[in-house]
Order: sequence, then structure tokens, then C-alpha cells
Amino acid sequence: MYNCNECGYKSVKWIGKCPLCGAWESFVEDDIVVQNRKPRKGMLFKKDNVEPQLIKEIKSNTFDRIPCGIEGVDRVLGGGLVEGEIILVGGEPGVGKSTLLLEVAAQISKKYKTLYVSAEESPQQIALRVKRLNADFENLYVIGEDDLLAVYEHVRKGNYKFVIIDSVQVVYCPECDGAKGSVSQIRGCADFLTHMAKTEGIGVFVVGHVTKDGIIAGPKLLEHIVDCVLYFEGEKMSHYRILRATKNRFGPTGDIVLFDMLSDGLKEISKTSDIFLPHKEKSVSGSSVACIIEGIRPMLVEVQALVSRASFANVRRRTIGFDNNRFSLLTAIIEKRLKLPLVGEDIFLNVAGGLRINDPAADLSAVVAVLSSFKEQDIPLDTAFIAEVGLAGEFRTVSHMNMRLKTVEQSNFSKCYIPKANKKGLNKGLACEIIYCDTLDDFYNKFFI
Ligand code: TYD
Ligand code: MG
Repeated sequence: MYNCNECGYKSVKWIGKCPLCGAWESFVEDDIVVQNRKPRKGMLFKKDNVEPQLIKEIKSNTFDRIPCGIEGVDRVLGGGLVEGEIILVGGEPGVGKSTLLLEVAAQISKKYKTLYVSAEESPQQIALRVKRLNADFENLYVIGEDDLLAVYEHVRKGNYKFVIIDSVQVVYCPECDGAKGSVSQIRGCADFLTHMAKTEGIGVFVVGHVTKDGIIAGPKLLEHIVDCVLYFEGEKMSHYRILRATKNRFGPTGDIVLFDMLSDGLKEISKTSDIFLPHKEKSVSGSSVACIIEGIRPMLVEVQALVSRASFANVRRRTIGFDNNRFSLLTAIIEKRLKLPLVGEDIFLNVAGGLRINDPAADLSAVVAVLSSFKEQDIPLDTAFIAEVGLAGEFRTVSHMNMRLKTVEQSNFSKCYIPKANKKGLNKGLACEIIYCDTLDDFYNKFFI
């Protein structure tokens, strides 16, 4: 059998391009012949005889939270770690997964015996990195080991309470077939680590690489099997990093933590609402402010546009930090609904601070930025824009409007343009002036003329 290393698709022949996920040269031979495989005997673990129980008789509050010492991480985890929890941390290369987990390890090791299993870097490299970091590493144990059975031996002998595996793609389980990082190995390792966490009652952090599409490499099973999946993200050129939970069996998902990657490690940013704002003195054209929601937190962001006469026959429409398709849609809506000749113009859109926007509530601020740059008309510094723009040019309702407006108000904006459809559920007594618009036309007439 051949397995696709990216998505786990199986084939009896080697194929150059995976028919399921479209990855090239991702097929590797799997030596398991399915028919001859005996069911595995639960690996090394014995299970006690378990009987079905009545759910109301099971004590539900048997797990205690163990704070990991970094406030934001605890918050994302839903109040701290739980004994026997297995947490997967995914992210692009160089985003700072190892740095984050080393800092977490430093904090936990103050109270609990912690082992950092580094299969990617040698202990010397880790020691070198630790020197740069601004944390207390007195009690942290490190081992350069990629054999999980050996790790398990160490954990049992050393009585460790927390184990960090960096990373699941480069460790292997001798009981499973396949090369390191192959689908069957990752599956086996995940199984093994979960059993280790549950039977020994230890907390396990596992680092996972992501593919170029941003999903954790290997079978989806990895994400299914663990208790909690955290994604660590950030743009290449920016020093801001966001940690978010996409799955959490012991708490809610949705909250995020924002970190600043400094030369001496990660620093949590507690007031996130306006760090992406420019704090300008003078109003300029082509720059507008939107309020987006990241996870459950409102954030003000600056959207910038530059519209200039194209010097070539084919015009350029480029975005950074904003979805390209969505932007094409918005420019088409402007052209059609406002009858503006954007045809011969190059248009560039940028979200300041290296943030990536996925919230449609930023539509209006992108539109305003483009219009303002095109007409060379300044946007007042005290005005914010929140609306999703539909294909017919209509302004659609935006979720969590009260929360957004509160943030806008707190950052001293005195005017905000929002959809008319949002008028109903709005809190009373807002200090900032709200201007309701129902279509793009309506908005254009109110704002530009
Ligand atoms: P790393 O944790 O090795 O990333 P990952 O494990 O996700 O691949 O982070 C490496 C990057 O972080 C590297 O490009 C340098 C940067 N960095 C800092 O900016 N400050 C620091 O204190 C450290 C340790 C790394
Ligand atoms: Mg690393």
C-alpha cells in the first residue's frame, strides 16, 4: 500500500499527485499488508476490568487545574492544564513553537518534574536557546531522544509529571511500521502518547508541524485523538504571534493570546484591542479603521489601500493580510454599484501590523480605504467602519456589534459607520456617534458627499 503523507489517502499504486488533497510526491510506501495484520494488543498497557457505569454516579469534578504559569496559555486552555491531558501545538516552521513550549516548561518545572524531549534539536542547542530566554530553567530536564519507548522508560523511572515532545513528526514508536513522519508512524505515536498520558496521569504537550496549507501534517486522526489542539500563528515579517485553541475537551475554544516575539522570548500582550492601530497625528487618504473579532476578542485594525493608474495593460490587484477573493468581490461591487471607473487602476490593500483578517465585518473599511485613495479624500482619524458588504451592495448585519462598539469607544473614536440592520439590538447610551447605512450607495452619499 501507498499512503499520502499529507492527508493519509491510501492507494495500491504509487501516484505522483494525491487525488484527494492535491499534494505532489507525497506518497510513501507503507509496508503493512492490511489483511495479515493482527490487531495490536493495546501496546504495552494493561487495562483494568471496566464495567459500564451510570453517568449520574460518575464524579465529574475529579480533575484539578494546574496553572502553567503563563496567564494567556492558561486562559486558552480553559483555566490551566488537566492531569493526563494531551495537547497538540501546531504551527509553521520558525513561528516559535519550541520557544513557547520551553517557556511553558520552565514555568511548570518550578512545581512539577518536567521532561523536554527534543528530537529536533540537540540538548546543547536547547541550552543555548535557554540562555536567551528570560525565564527560570533551574529544574527542567532535557533529553535528545526520538524513540518513544525509551522516553516512556525515562518517564516511569524519573517520575515525571509533564512531558513535552518536540515534535511528533520526528519521533518514532518501534512497535509501528513505516518511516518517521509517515502516516502510520504518526498515528502510532499519537496513540502511544495518549496511552502514556492517560495511564500515567501525566500532562503531555506535542508539537506538530503544519503543511503549506496551514493544517497539521499527518492524518487528521492526530487532531481527533488529542484533548486539545492549539495553533500558533503569525506572519513571517511580523513579531506578533497568536495562540488559539481549535479544539478543547476541557474548556471552551475561541479565546486567543497575543504574544510579542522579542529577542529574549515571548511576551504576552494583555491589552490587545488597539495595538494594531497607527496612532497617527494627521488624517491621510487610503487608511481606515475596522473592528474585527479574533476568537472572542475585539481588535481595531488599520486597513490601507493604494489606488494608482496602471502602467501596464493588465492591472494589478494585490492584498496582504486580506483574502484576495473577497477583495476582488469588493472591487467589483464598488465598480458596479457606485459606477466608478476602477478598471484602469492598480489597487493594493494592506492590513497594518502583519495581521490576517478573516472577519467580513472589515469589508466596509477595505471599501472606504479604496474609495478614499481613489478620490484622494482623507478619512478623519476619529471614524471607524464596521459592516459586511453583500453582492448587491447591501450592508449586512454584523455579529457582536455591542462589543465592537465598546472597543471603538474605548479607543476614543467619536464616529462609527455601521449597518442599519444592526440598529435593533444596540445598547443605549453610546458616547460615540453612530451613523447607520443600509447600502453602499447610501454610505457613499453620507460619507463622501
Ligand atoms: P522556534 O521556537 O525555533 O520555532 P519552531 O519551533 O516553531 O520552528 O523559533 C525560532 C524563531 O524565533 C527564530 O526565527 C528566532 C526567533 N526567536 C526570537 O525572536 N526570540 C527568541 O528569544 C527566540 C528563542 C527565538
Ligand atoms: Mg522547533
